[in-house]
Amino acid sequence: MLAAAAVATHPDDPLAGLAVGEQPERPVPDGWMTVSVRAAALNHHDLFSLRGVGLPAERLPMILGCDAAGVTEDGREVIVHAVIGDPAVAGGDETLDPKRTLLSELHPGTLAERVAVPARNLVPKPASLTWEEAACLPTAWLTAYRMVINRAGLPADGGGTLLVQGAGGGLATAAILLAKAAGHTVFVTSRDEGKRKRALDLGADVALETGARLPRRVDAVIETVGAATWRHSVGSLRPGGRIVCSGATSGDGPPAELTRIFFLQLSVVGSTMGTREELVDLVAFLDRTGIRPVIDEIRPLAAARTSFERLARGDAYGKLVLTV
Ligand SMILES: NC(=O)c1ccc[n+]([C@@H]2O[C@H](COP(=O)([O-])OP(=O)(O)OC[C@H]3O[C@@H](n4cnc5c(N)ncnc54)[C@H](OP(=O)(O)O)[C@@H]3O)[C@@H](O)[C@H]2O)c1
Repeated sequence: MLAAAAVATHPDDPLAGLAVGEQPERPVPDGWMTVSVRAAALNHHDLFSLRGVGLPAERLPMILGCDAAGVTEDGREVIVHAVIGDPAVAGGDETLDPKRTLLSELHPGTLAERVAVPARNLVPKPASLTWEEAACLPTAWLTAYRMVINRAGLPADGGGTLLVQGAGGGLATAAILLAKAAGHTVFVTSRDEGKRKRALDLGADVALETGARLPRRVDAVIETVGAATWRHSVGSLRPGGRIVCSGATSGDGPPAELTRIFFLQLSVVGSTMGTREELVDLVAFLDRTGIRPVIDEIRPLAAARTSFERLARGDAYGKLVLTV
């Protein structure tokens, strides 16, 4: 079947190991179901895989992709939950299963005509979402949902203040939309003036250059940029505030700012993906509020290389979607 796969990994030249073409289908394990993919979306995770992060050479070739929506063999329209894990071994949260894996790490991913997942990983797609919109939800949007709604410690009925770093990213745009729909004030930073303007168009209250002083201290920070923004994130919190961190795109080696963290009694909370239940809640949240993923571009799967080039250049605003 047609797929976008990692056939080699290169830490400094990720696209050199990308192959868009025919890949064999693996046998489907008992209890798993095959989904005919209608749309799939790219994530930074796919580039990390092509760099060899979390994808050792013995697992190659590996079909890439964590995000998809499609149709099951018995005709159900579904969104694919990308976290393969057993909630029973981790207090009901499969993201805490020590053997947890994401699609495309151990099992073939979603950038293909078909993808197989455990039956519990299928979530009904509401008719109100297009295939392309639904395909954006399982990674960046689910991660942002858990961070903003369940991990940031913001009041459930709105009124909190949130800083989102790196406003142009797929996860960051999701965080802006979710936080605004939940009734919070949102400050954003971005290196790019055009992305700052687009963040304001999405509803952000204030958009500033990366590292600029905020109008006031915030309750929580959505941090995915890492080294380039960490100091600013720690410095932007009110006493008792919280950084929720799910990524380190620019590297993970900044000074920890420990003195400020203990003196102001700040919390640093790690967050990765979300549970199936949170994906169901996210879908219901979109259905209820009418907010939708920002999609930069939709291309056919066969043209995946061009989308990967845009992801690697970092010039996309929102999600890059592939259709099958
Ligand atoms: N843990 C999880 O479950 C999980 C899930 C999804 C994503 N992630 C991680 O979250 C991160 C973002 O993912 P994504 O898919 O949203 O990626 P993305 O769309 O490529 O966005 C990354 C953003 O980071 C900002 N950035 C990059 N380098 C920077 C630098 N040197 N200085 C300042 N800002 C910089 C950019 O914002 P501006 O151009 O606006 O400045 C860019 O838009 C990745 O590291 C990804 O692996 C983690």
